[in-house]
Amino acid sequence: MIMTVTLNAAIDKTYIVPKFPIGEATRAGRPLVHPGGKGINVARVVRQFGMPSLATGFVGGKNGEAITDMLSGLDVGHDFVRVAGGESRLCLTIIDEASGRATELLEPGPPVTARELSELKRKVELGARRSKVAVFSGSIPEGIPSSVYRELIAAAQAAGCLTILDTSGDGLVQGIAAKPFLIKPNEHEVARLLGKPLEREEELYPLFGRLLAQGIACAVVSLGAQGCIAAHNGTLYKVPAPRIRAVNTVGCGDSFVGALAVQLASGASMERALIQAAAAGAADALTFEAGFVRVEDVKRLAQEISVMRL
Ligand SMILES: Nc1ncnc2c1ncn2[C@@H]1O[C@H](COP(=O)(O)OP(=O)(O)OP(=O)(O)O)[C@@H](O)[C@H]1O
Ligand SMILES: [Mg+2]
Repeated sequence: MIMTVTLNAAIDKTYIVPKFPIGEATRAGRPLVHPGGKGINVARVVRQFGMPSLATGFVGGKNGEAITDMLSGLDVGHDFVRVAGGESRLCLTIIDEASGRATELLEPGPPVTARELSELKRKVELGARRSKVAVFSGSIPEGIPSSVYRELIAAAQAAGCLTILDTSGDGLVQGIAAKPFLIKPNEHEVARLLGKPLEREEELYPLFGRLLAQGIACAVVSLGAQGCIAAHNGTLYKVPAPRIRAVNTVGCGDSFVGALAVQLASGASMERALIQAAAAGAADALTFEAGFVRVEDVKRLAQEISVMRL
């Protein structure tokens, strides 16, 4: 089983409109509605690959109930802490078909108390005992200390789980201190670790050296349509992305991480895991929904991908 932790769960509503002019009224059709937040996206993708998944984190209010109901409908296991202080957020994505561009409107999540946070730690400990891999994905809501992933990762690792961290900013820096098995910043998020914007791939090599020396087993930097670069066990890998016609690239990182988690839980080699992850990231870009893949697309795309050892 794969456990995913989502501190900022959401209802994701996606509207697809022929054109989205700012400052004018637009008539929209029915939106696509999904339970969201990065970890929930990962749990859904894991399930699409046929592996059991358990989603935890915080939910609140009626929106929180809608999120857990939708997860049940998707056969994703869940065990969330229900926070008393407010509603889980609603996130809107509007896709303008004319330009192909997506506009996102992201609400803040509900406040979380120290007691609710320790309740989550307990759930993570329990879930980790039943899981091979635990995935910690997404931003840290306001009011929760940026050390949260460090503590939760330590708890999951103590229970014997492989851990994956996919976040940004202070949460990423502090989470690294717990030595997760794998981190997956994207090209923007990695700037925080480099201390400057990423300009050339080679700038990643010394960073990878430092991360692996600190006890991270595998560091992967995803580069959108450029694919990804990874370091594991003293080997550097480059995985060019397949060329596709992307319709929505929001959530590609979540599908990438979901496939990685499935492969690692199945004992696959890093090379195979990276190919499947890159195929899942690209497959996600072929669908309007964020964090959603068609398994037949993943299979087809995986055949087009080869890994280079640098
Ligand atoms: N346009 C694309 N064409 C082909 N593959 C893509 C494309 N966009 C993303 N991918 C694949 O998905 C992987 C993850 O994408 P990306 O780097 O955009 O993640 P991200 O920024 O973390 O996304 P998000 O946080 O929105 O889920 C890439 O490394 C690549 O393999
Ligand atoms: Mg991401």
